Amino acid sequence: MQNMPKWLNDAIFYQVYPQSFCDSNGDGVGDFNGLISKLDYIKQTGFNALWINPCFVSPFKDAGYDVQDYFKIAPRYGTNEDAYRLFDEAHKRGIHVLLDLVPGHTSDKCRWFKQSAKPERNRYSDRYIWTNSGWARPEGYNWVTGNADRDGTYMLNFFLNQPALNYGFNNITDQSWQISYKDKRVKPTLNAMMRVMRFWLDHGADGFRVDMADSLVKNDPEKTATASLWRKVRKMLNAHYPEAVLVSEWCNAPVAINKAGFHCDFLLHHNDKLTDYAFYRHDETGVSTAYFCKIAHVSAYNMLRRYSEELQSTKNNGYICVISGNHDVIRLSSFLDESERKLAFVFLLTLPGAPFIYYGDEIGMRYIPQRSKEGGFHRTGSRTPMQWNREEPNCGFSTAPASKLYLDVDRDPDSPCVEQQMKDGASLWSLVHSLTVLRHAHADLQADGEFSVVECSDGGVLCYRRGEHTFVLFNPTDTEQVSTVCIGKKLFELGGVAEKNGVTTLAPQTAVIFEK
Ligand code: GLC
Repeated sequence: MQNMPKWLNDAIFYQVYPQSFCDSNGDGVGDFNGLISKLDYIKQTGFNALWINPCFVSPFKDAGYDVQDYFKIAPRYGTNEDAYRLFDEAHKRGIHVLLDLVPGHTSDKCRWFKQSAKPERNRYSDRYIWTNSGWARPEGYNWVTGNADRDGTYMLNFFLNQPALNYGFNNITDQSWQISYKDKRVKPTLNAMMRVMRFWLDHGADGFRVDMADSLVKNDPEKTATASLWRKVRKMLNAHYPEAVLVSEWCNAPVAINKAGFHCDFLLHHNDKLTDYAFYRHDETGVSTAYFCKIAHVSAYNMLRRYSEELQSTKNNGYICVISGNHDVIRLSSFLDESERKLAFVFLLTLPGAPFIYYGDEIGMRYIPQRSKEGGFHRTGSRTPMQWNREEPNCGFSTAPASKLYLDVDRDPDSPCVEQQMKDGASLWSLVHSLTVLRHAHADLQADGEFSVVECSDGGVLCYRRGEHTFVLFNPTDTEQVSTVCIGKKLFELGGVAEKNGVTTLAPQTAVIFEK
């Protein structure tokens, strides 16, 4: 692949929600020193790349996606020096670190916004999107009025406290206040964001996960203008930081990768996407029709149709990143039981592109419905503290009294924890571990290895080839199934496979990886 950092080919990412991972100073909130103390665990599990959710100074109205100062680590996580030490310690262990870049909006407490809201013209006046009258409420986006001395309404990008940064408009419908994305008045916005990137890359970060990457230019339905801005960013990276990586939250790989020049694009849980068919789908009565649900008995055809097309169209340009979940969705364990999740992990960790595992999914942490925290709403239940062990207070997450914790830990005595699962060869953690070991050892299974479907039966049997010689075969159902594929040298087996008189029989819930 042209201009692709080589390290991505063998990258397995781990997403860390910093406030919930490990608290080193007993204040109830996870921090950088806590994360550094767990790098050995991360490496041992087989993850060699990290994405850390936003960790910058913020009023935390959207858990840090409302950035107040892009150049400063939020004190609750530590200092900039702690972040630089994290990069160092991670690199010593062969782990790359992506930060979270929020380019579409800031917090309304950001210095840029405070300046922009002033009635006197200044260098930040065009940094955000303002109409020219406090009474104007144009259609199509959300607007705030009456909150500033400036005579205008300002556009929101997400929540009420997240004003949209101004990268201009593509189709101009009102010349009196909309600025073209090509106009020099909006150029400083992208330049400011590139300065943010360069600052963190210069201090040792390896790239960024990019929040709402498609949201920059407004009235840009085909995203051509937004893509043109990202291509400038990619050009800057190619020239100055050829090893740095950008992963977009876009969920449209042909546009994000081929047109906007991202190295990777997330495949999110959106309707009609692979993860929807694989993990989440259900019928009108709520019964699961997901491919990995053992009673669903559905063909893998729909799950793979669009994915295969997108893989084909982005071939040689970038990677599609399939995720086990993230901080915005209900945890996988609410949809699939442990036996089903084991097969789902075989799938995730044998697909091309770079897989992303959400912290705690490797041990099957649960979704805990609860009151919203920091703009999380229903997402809060997927953001609870990591469960390290049962012996220490708060599952080893923090020594703070329970009332001081960022969110309470899962106190169910049967809830999973790292230490117990690491000792148990049959645990989900052990399965994930053996798969990461296999992936790191077999180039065929890594990002660049080809992907082609060999068998896809109505009853649910699926076999795909990875690279030259490696095959992955599934029977996700609760009944025995036959396959037309002959097994070669087995590299991994879950469930059971038998070959007799040229017929391959797969026990219920089987996954086999083999070489021929
Ligand atoms: C992204 C983030 C989400 C955040 C939103 C606004 O979707 O993943 O957590 O609330 O953007 O920044």
